[in-house]
Amino acid sequence: LINPQNPLGDIYSPGELRDYLEFAKRHKLHVMVDEVYMLSVFEKSAGYHSVLSLEGLPDPQRTHVMWATSKDFGMSGLRFGTLYTENRDVATAVASLCRYHSLSGLVQYQMAQLLRDRDWINHVYLPENHARLKAAHTYVSGELRALGIPFLSRGAGFFIWVDLRKYLPEATFKEEMLLWRRFLDNKVLLSCGKAFQCKEPGWFRLVFSDKAHRLCLGMQRVRQVLEAKSQVPDDPASCQSQESGNQRR
Ligand SMILES: Cc1ncc(COP(=O)(O)O)c(C=O)c1O
Repeated sequence: LINPQNPLGDIYSPGELRDYLEFAKRHKLHVMVDEVYMLSVFEKSAGYHSVLSLEGLPDPQRTHVMWATSKDFGMSGLRFGTLYTENRDVATAVASLCRYHSLSGLVQYQMAQLLRDRDWINHVYLPENHARLKAAHTYVSGELRALGIPFLSRGAGFFIWVDLRKYLPEATFKEEMLLWRRFLDNKVLLSCGKAFQCKEPGWFRLVFSDKAHRLCLGMQRVRQVLEAKSQVPDDPASCQSQESGNQRR
């Protein structure tokens, strides 16, 4: 289970989480809960709850929770992640893998320092990060609305799941790939639905966690591709004025 979900940005309610975990318990299934976007919920009303905040896990020995600094702190390069499990066998197996794949002591030390600073994380970093994510999301969703493009977005994560089915007259994955290619030829990299095993052709994931001037340029290029104009100019000048802050990835 990925919560918040990638690529949809969906958030599972505590009731849904409990249902999934009860189902897994009945069938003796292990559940890996990936909460790598846990701190990137920028819409307060989204109502996110970590699985670890549930009162009593139905099957603690078969429930394992992962988190990393890659998304919430934009530090994928450091390769720092965590695993919470109450299962000793799983912990021992993972620990033995870490013997050859562990992080340097320097990175571990820095991460410990960072994560210890709760005050800065809660009162400085997260509010600022959420405000920037929200501003970027508001801008991109406004542009999509202006283009008449339907989309899903749930106030969490870095992406909007965009419905471009109306641009595929025959509704095939071949057309989806051609459209993806046209975006790429115009220097916009979107992820197509097929990459996420989407059953229907025409869905794309648009990442919005970027600086305002690049989002503006990207949306101009998206517009031009969809309006079937030719090559988009490289000149980002018209977007410089949109840069209102230091939005991060
Ligand atoms: C849901 C989810 N989990 C885990 C990862 C892996 O993150 P990393 O290996 O950079 O920590 C990603 C990366 O895209 C992701 O989207």
